[in-house]
Order: sequence, then structure tokens, then C-alpha cells
Amino acid sequence: MRRLLLLPLLIVATNILSNDEGKELHDESCISCHDSQTYTKFDSSIESHFDLRRQVSFCSVNLSTGWFPEEEESVISFLNSTYYNFTD
Ligand code: HEC
Repeated sequence: MRRLLLLPLLIVATNILSNDEGKELHDESCISCHDSQTYTKFDSSIESHFDLRRQVSFCSVNLSTGWFPEEEESVISFLNSTYYNFTD
């Protein structure tokens, strides 16, 4: 019973961690080409969560980061919550 009560807390904690992890992974592999201006520029071609996923995937594969899907997801989530704010 106790365990069940702890579960939601754990999930919240994991979400926070996952954003931090996303930032770390991003800073490690992506910042050489992108600073924050890349993501906030006026003519960004990224117009939806779908575009963002596709582009992160594309850059990540091109660089052979070897990220696991959860790691890629954490980078997407970091970029979205920091810059793009797509809700769809
Ligand atoms: C070798 C250089 C390079 C690296 C390293 C790189 N990218 Fe890119 N990225 C590009 C280019 C080129 C574009 C398309 C041109 C543009 O929009 O500035 C782009 C565009 C993007 C965009 C869309 C920007 C926008 O809003 O228009 C995202 C998101 C992105 N990259 C994510 C990543 C992520 C995540 C990583 C780390 C895995 C990464 N990139 C690493 C070259 C790079």
C-alpha cells in the first residue's frame, strides 16, 4: 500500500530529472551548432511538436549520438519546455 502511494511522487521526480538530463545531453552534443538563438529565431521552420521531434531525431541521427529513445525524448522535452512551448 505504501508503495502505491509513493508512485505519483516518483513519476513527478522522474519528469524533473528528465528535463535536466535533456539539457545535459543537449549541451554535450548539440550546442556546437546551436545556441539558444537557433530555437528562438523568427523564421524557425519548427511549427509543431511533430516538427520538433522530427528535427531533433534528424540532427541526433546525423551526429550518431547513439541516444536511447528516452534520452531523445528528454532532449525534446527540454527544448519544448525551454523554447517552443508546443502543447499539442
Ligand atoms: C553539425 C551541426 C549541427 C549539430 C551538432 C546539431 N544540429 Fe540541429 N540543426 C543543424 C542545422 C544545419 C539545422 C537547420 C538550420 C537551422 O534551422 O538553423 C538544425 C536545426 C535544428 C532544429 C530546428 C531549429 C529551428 O527552430 O528552426 C532543432 C530543434 C535542432 N536542430 C536540434 C538539434 C539537436 C537536439 C542536436 C543535438 C543532437 C543538434 N540539433 C545538433 C545543424 C546541427
